[in-house]
Amino acid sequence: MAEPLLVVDGVTCRFGGLVAVNAASLGAQEGQITALIGPNGAGKTTLFSIISGFVRANQGSVHFAGQNVTGEPPYRLARRGIARTFQIVQPFYGLSVRENILVGAHLHHRKRDAALAVADQIGRDVGLGEMLDRAADQLTVAGRKRLELARSLATEPKLLLLDEVLAGLNPSEIRDIVPVIREFCRRGITILMIEHVMQAVMSLAEQVFVLAEGRIIAKGTPTEIVADPAVVEAYLGRGAAARLGARHGH
Ligand SMILES: Nc1ncnc2c1ncn2[C@@H]1O[C@H](COP(=O)(O)OP(=O)(O)OP(=O)(O)O)[C@@H](O)[C@H]1O
Ligand SMILES: [Mg+2]
Repeated sequence: MAEPLLVVDGVTCRFGGLVAVNAASLGAQEGQITALIGPNGAGKTTLFSIISGFVRANQGSVHFAGQNVTGEPPYRLARRGIARTFQIVQPFYGLSVRENILVGAHLHHRKRDAALAVADQIGRDVGLGEMLDRAADQLTVAGRKRLELARSLATEPKLLLLDEVLAGLNPSEIRDIVPVIREFCRRGITILMIEHVMQAVMSLAEQVFVLAEGRIIAKGTPTEIVADPAVVEAYLGRGAAARLGARHGH
């Protein structure tokens, strides 16, 4: 198999005495959707912050497209083609939906007309075509999630890091946005997504990495992962896999 587009190798990150990420390694294969799952506080967002340059690792390396990008600042990583969404969405509420997307589009388009064309197209692609002239603060939670997606897509990334874009959405909103994510992957954007909604992980991801207490404890296809006792234990507590197995008569 080809070298993954993104290679995280042995990354450790400490906040004071807390080891948030502990010698974690993972890869995201070009053109695929890879998921990063794990219990609350496992270190998933911290790992994204390291990959996108917002937080520095104490140890380990990040390679992107064959180059060592460890410790580079966010704006340089954005130019290389790494974009992220934020778990806590933070649009510029004073601006319109279009202007919010435009901020991202200006990374590669200095001229306002060209940037506007990109922003409008991406706005339509994520399903916000009708909302482009509205103020960002008029959007529903689902609309804000779409805007967050659009803002990162507007930088025309090669690698898109999605931090729980489905969190807070109801099942029908999730059903609507899953094909949007799949379509961007089909167009050639490699995706690494943190997600708690397992149904979406099962339907979107080809590879899944599981982080628990800062460590990668499992990796595999979604089907392999949900059947892995170590993963069940990480989510439900020690002995859970055995208890579930007993109940199911295995
Ligand atoms: N800037 C920071 N300073 C100190 N501690 C932090 C910082 N950021 C995260 N942490 C701690 O690091 C650990 C990992 O947090 P992180 O947000 O990466 O987890 P997560 O897997 O994304 O969790 P969730 O599923 O709840 O989003 C937690 O204990 C958190 O409190
Ligand atoms: Mg998080």
